[in-house]
Amino acid sequence: MLIKTPAPHDPLPSEITPQSIYLDRRSALAALGLAAASPLALAQSVPGGGKLPKLPGARSAVAGAMVLDKPTSYADASSYNNFYEFGTDKSDPAEHAHTLKTRPWTVSVEGECAKPGRYDIDALLKLAPMEERIYRLRCVEGWSMVIPWVGYSLGTLLKLAEPTAKAKYVEFTTLADRAQMPGVRSGVLDWPYVEGLRIDEAMHPLTLLAFGMYGEVLPNQNGAPLRLVVPWKYGFKSAKSLVKIRFVEKQPTSSWTKAAQQEYGFYSNVNPNVPHPRWSQATERRIGEDGLFSRKRPTLMFNGYEAQVGQLYAGMDLKKNY
Ligand code: MTE
Repeated sequence: MLIKTPAPHDPLPSEITPQSIYLDRRSALAALGLAAASPLALAQSVPGGGKLPKLPGARSAVAGAMVLDKPTSYADASSYNNFYEFGTDKSDPAEHAHTLKTRPWTVSVEGECAKPGRYDIDALLKLAPMEERIYRLRCVEGWSMVIPWVGYSLGTLLKLAEPTAKAKYVEFTTLADRAQMPGVRSGVLDWPYVEGLRIDEAMHPLTLLAFGMYGEVLPNQNGAPLRLVVPWKYGFKSAKSLVKIRFVEKQPTSSWTKAAQQEYGFYSNVNPNVPHPRWSQATERRIGEDGLFSRKRPTLMFNGYEAQVGQLYAGMDLKKNY
């Protein structure tokens, strides 16, 4: 048996902060948005699947980026998915997305900008320091998750392109390859999957270009090798497996709006007061909390990010602009 003799630089037991106080201090700092500035700026270590390459990120200093809700387990976040290119059942993406090839992969940035470009995924991975951000993700179908993503603000990439004054919106297009994606052979959506944001929404620091989750690269079913995460909007705005980002003057038409205009508006901000024609949006079921006695959670305005993004919609009729 090995007995450890303390080295001169080892802290004395009395100098070590008890874990309960350390954790409390971390939550208090996070609530103040100060955690990243402190020496305790460690990324949250919620275990991933352990099978994919590691992709660590430092705790994000962006206001609102670290919610304190308990993260969803990796097993749930990577097996209950919407990724219609791989089928419409929640279990289809985890089952079928192994056919997606994530190398080589390029993303083109084009349209109304002075410096369009085509970026290799490995260059994008090095473009800015990776941050961990714990976001709520609320799906319009009435369920939600809490996921520790890894990436950086989309605005970092967008600014490099120097958008012109005509760039009022940004359109996002994702991969649609019949050879790799069995769902693209079905007519459930008009492929490729297209989404859009107003330029100020796209530039908002909370809008994340995500490359990983739970400290590892994204599993294919979650949108590898890179996806959007727009935490105050319904999940379908967070387009997976991006291949094109285009600055445009006119509001883009998303695939979901094309499929059912009355059900999916351009803004799609999480709003408990505006029901979807088929689903109330007042409450949500947090994945992993199901059980006989588990209560539904009330859905929060802008998914809880009102302090950060409410101003973007000042004076707008949110019932009309759903
Ligand atoms: N992106 C693409 N390309 N295809 C899709 O079908 N589904 C969206 C969104 N992004 C989708 C997509 C929907 S409806 C949701 S709720 C989220 O991805 C789900 O992300 P998650 O599976 O990582 O939780």
